[in-house]
Amino acid sequence: MSAKIIDGKEFALSVRGKVKDHVTRLVNDHGITPGLAVVLVGEDPASEVYVRSKGKATTEAGMKSVEHKLDAATSEADLLALIDDLNNDASIHGILVQLPLPDHLNEDLVINSIDPAKDVDGFHISNVGLLGTGQKSMVPCTPLGCLMMLRDHHGSLSGLDAVVVGRSNIVGKPMAQLLLGDSCTVTIAHSRTKDLPEVVRRADIVVAAVGRPEMVPGDWIKPGATVIDVGINRIDAPEKGEGKTRLVGDVEFATASEVAGAITPVPGGVGPMTIACLLANTVTACSRANGLEEPEGLTA
Ligand code: GUN
Repeated sequence: MSAKIIDGKEFALSVRGKVKDHVTRLVNDHGITPGLAVVLVGEDPASEVYVRSKGKATTEAGMKSVEHKLDAATSEADLLALIDDLNNDASIHGILVQLPLPDHLNEDLVINSIDPAKDVDGFHISNVGLLGTGQKSMVPCTPLGCLMMLRDHHGSLSGLDAVVVGRSNIVGKPMAQLLLGDSCTVTIAHSRTKDLPEVVRRADIVVAAVGRPEMVPGDWIKPGATVIDVGINRIDAPEKGEGKTRLVGDVEFATASEVAGAITPVPGGVGPMTIACLLANTVTACSRANGLEEPEGLTA
């Protein structure tokens, strides 16, 4: 193995430490406790696990955590009324509606009913537009975490060739905007891209966010490139015993880590950064709402 392993667990701990320090200042100097409300509709087991760990991390950072668990059959009107209450609740600075929502609820309508200033996911159409025009916005947590790790590793990203594989609204598109904002030359590649291996081979920075297990092998990677693997895919692992599974990324770690200069592992890479950045966004939203200085190193 030649690549430096970018340890997302350790990095996330340092981000969470910075969040906690800023929360302490808000509480001690201004009597303000940042509050995050998470709304979960229905009983998707994976979502329940995410929501629980978000709540725990929020409390550990010294912030107020509120969870609203709604029945799967909740009407759109009731969900919108709850969001309206949270928009008007001065003790709540961040609102996250866990996705996916049950089919009868219009996800775009629900997300766009959140006050953009409290939209700690950065999914509201106003925040998407602000990010796209280089203005101050709330930035989606996963790409923000990737950006923090890239800045930490490279210092300046200016002039680097970056390829983002995947064009989702949650990761690929905002990631590309953030890299452009840091003066990278950015390509967004996807399933229809012609000669994808050649495109990826041009990159100094590869961000893989397609959701396909081990799709990017080592021989697509330019020697010395930095590889950020956003994928979290559970695959069968018969070598561990019958019925066993393991987590892999969108990058084939064994081969890519022989070629890359630096790489994030799965698990323990981007994953832990997502919750850390949710906390960072909450403390940022709280600071902005109160006209106070933003936390250093926790924003785009
Ligand atoms: N479901 C899976 N990831 C996310 C996320 O980052 N935000 C929200 N709101 N829902 C999710």
